[in-house]
Amino acid sequence: MKKTLFAIITILFLGTIARADEGMWIPALLQRNEAEMQAMGMKITADDIYSINHSSMKDAVVLFGGGCTGEIVSEQGLLLTNHHCGYGWIQRHSTMEHDYLTDGFWAMTPEEELACPGLTVTMLKNMVDVTDKILTNVTPETTDEERAEIVSKNIKRLVEEMQKRSEYEVSVESFYQGNQYFLMYNEVFRDIRMVGAPPSNIGKFGGDTDNWVWPRHTGDFSIFRIYVGPDGKPAEYSKDNKTYKPDYHFTISLKGVEEGDFTFVFGYPARTNEYLPAVAVNQEANVIYPVVVDLRTKILDIYNKYQEKDAKVRIQYANKHAGLGNGWKKWMGVIEGIRNFKGIEKKQAFEEAYLDWCMKTRSRIPYMHALKDFTPVYEEYEKYRMATTYFTEAGLSIELIEFAANFAQITEVTKDTPQEEIDELVNALKSAAAVFYKDYYQPIDEEVAIAMLKAYREAQPEDFRPEILNEIDRKFKGNVQSYVDYLFGKTIFTSEEKVNKFLDEFNPSKVKKLEKDPAIVAANSMMDFYVENVMAKSRECNTKINNLRRVYMEGQMKMIPEVYPERNLYPDANFTLRVTYGKVGGFKPKDAVTYRHYTTLDGIMQKENPNIYDYVVTDRLRELYEAKDYGRYADKDGSMHVAFIAGNHTTGGNSGSPILNANGELLGLNFDRTWEGTMSDLIYDPSICKNISVDIRYVLFLIDKYAGCQRLIDEMTIAE
Ligand code: ARG
Ligand code: ASP
Repeated sequence: MKKTLFAIITILFLGTIARADEGMWIPALLQRNEAEMQAMGMKITADDIYSINHSSMKDAVVLFGGGCTGEIVSEQGLLLTNHHCGYGWIQRHSTMEHDYLTDGFWAMTPEEELACPGLTVTMLKNMVDVTDKILTNVTPETTDEERAEIVSKNIKRLVEEMQKRSEYEVSVESFYQGNQYFLMYNEVFRDIRMVGAPPSNIGKFGGDTDNWVWPRHTGDFSIFRIYVGPDGKPAEYSKDNKTYKPDYHFTISLKGVEEGDFTFVFGYPARTNEYLPAVAVNQEANVIYPVVVDLRTKILDIYNKYQEKDAKVRIQYANKHAGLGNGWKKWMGVIEGIRNFKGIEKKQAFEEAYLDWCMKTRSRIPYMHALKDFTPVYEEYEKYRMATTYFTEAGLSIELIEFAANFAQITEVTKDTPQEEIDELVNALKSAAAVFYKDYYQPIDEEVAIAMLKAYREAQPEDFRPEILNEIDRKFKGNVQSYVDYLFGKTIFTSEEKVNKFLDEFNPSKVKKLEKDPAIVAANSMMDFYVENVMAKSRECNTKINNLRRVYMEGQMKMIPEVYPERNLYPDANFTLRVTYGKVGGFKPKDAVTYRHYTTLDGIMQKENPNIYDYVVTDRLRELYEAKDYGRYADKDGSMHVAFIAGNHTTGGNSGSPILNANGELLGLNFDRTWEGTMSDLIYDPSICKNISVDIRYVLFLIDKYAGCQRLIDEMTIAE
């Protein structure tokens, strides 16, 4: 009796753990989640969220550019996304006279909205399951190679056929590691204009220091608008274009959130790997990430040292720092999360249950093999993964070498190359040089070179190093410093003038000299080694791994519903539109620490430090704070809420996604995750995996009270 009761309790307990919060759901199949969502508090239907028969929320959620999400909030195509998603565009429009990154940008009239040529916004119109069509002619006897060929042929044929009949962009996307396929119809808008952005000390408040961390106080939003041709269809930029009238736009809620409230996030998560075997997670988190973190720590320390000394260098390296720092910090969180929450052990326990299930009938033998065969492949793969990691993270982090690698093509010029082609190459390299040297600081690069070459040389076995590393032993007695002195002393690539002079005088007879340039020698040595000794082997391993993952996934798709009927399966993120849901709430990240679910403007004032770039507060914001001039955007407790956390399963690409309440009204913009839970791309644990959103009331307060851009508030639909 006691035993059964215990079993039931265990099942119930496991059930809630496995279910609540985890999962990124395909909107077209959301009916399956509707009951659970409603039980958690949702007051609308799956059909309100996604429908192809009438307007629904999906008509207001877009892929912003290539890597973020945005949502439409007015009948005039007004679009919200994160500041860090609009960052590149804000920067591109900035000049010395108009520094929108520093000062913010607000189009006070429609005429002031700025065109962003090259920026697109993509909207899903329909998605259809075409698994049967794609897997036609695939049988249990089909080999992996044959299968790959059949699938790619079927995809090509179907896309060609459907594209002829559709005004939208058609593609086929693979789900569940090639076990399910959907045909996607997308509308792509090409005239997108920049409408507003707060200054960086609001939009990026806390900078890289606070990145991935809760409590957070970042006003991470920017505003754009979709324009269309006179016929209402997507068009290239033209001043005659008009604003887009969407089928749906979000209503904004001013009610804020409370602990336990139901929320959902609708957006474009990029990549997750939730169904990997333990060996793979172990390699990723315990072998590769520590190396990357270690290399990046060395580089970032050098950046910091020089950035602190010199304001110009700080700006030059701001973007590089943010890029390296984002992954660096996240992966430290992943390593720690997996250790503290016993990620590998949990995977191993699951695998035991899986193997038990496989042993039950003969037809499951292939599923058993799929899991067991991972081990030798990953063993083989490790050496090549490591070599790739050192090549990209150490070798190519030496900016001089990375830039010199661009000159590979020009070293192939011969006296038979048409002059036109040469001119084109020379011009392209000159423009690349202008971009590169604007943000190049040689003392940083020299120090990085010393640190990276040392690490590269020490870590890789002699027979597995690019020639140039062994040459340091032969010609420089193993003294990296002497080699780096020689490299930077002899190359033309330390100076834009020298590079331009070389390009101006370039003719085929100069190739020989260029080939002897030490930066070119180093670049070639690293690239040749990679191409000849690593790339093909790496690909081979990857193909094997992908095939095993497909079969292992298929096995899990059969096993999980039988063994863990309470657990819903969802496909890994693949840059397609998904819905995820969870409740608002704080959590306990570690012993003795508890996090509340929201932050306020008080926290910004506590963090304020005029001497630290990331924590500067503008006078205007301080005045509004001191006057408590929050208008209708104040919380009912009288304070200004800035950000909040909830248990939505999000990942990269979800930035800018709308976070919505039980009625489907906009509560805020998703922009990050908490550091303790960054392992959620590999293993999700609802007790620590939380998404961070900026409160929409803070966004409106900034547009209205801070920027005085009332016209934007007027066009939104706001529920008091
Ligand atoms: N962690 C956020 C996401 O992965 C990026 C936030 C950008 N902000 C920054 N300070 N780097 O993309
Ligand atoms: N900050 C990420 C993004 O830019 C979101 C995340 O990884 O949680 O998409």
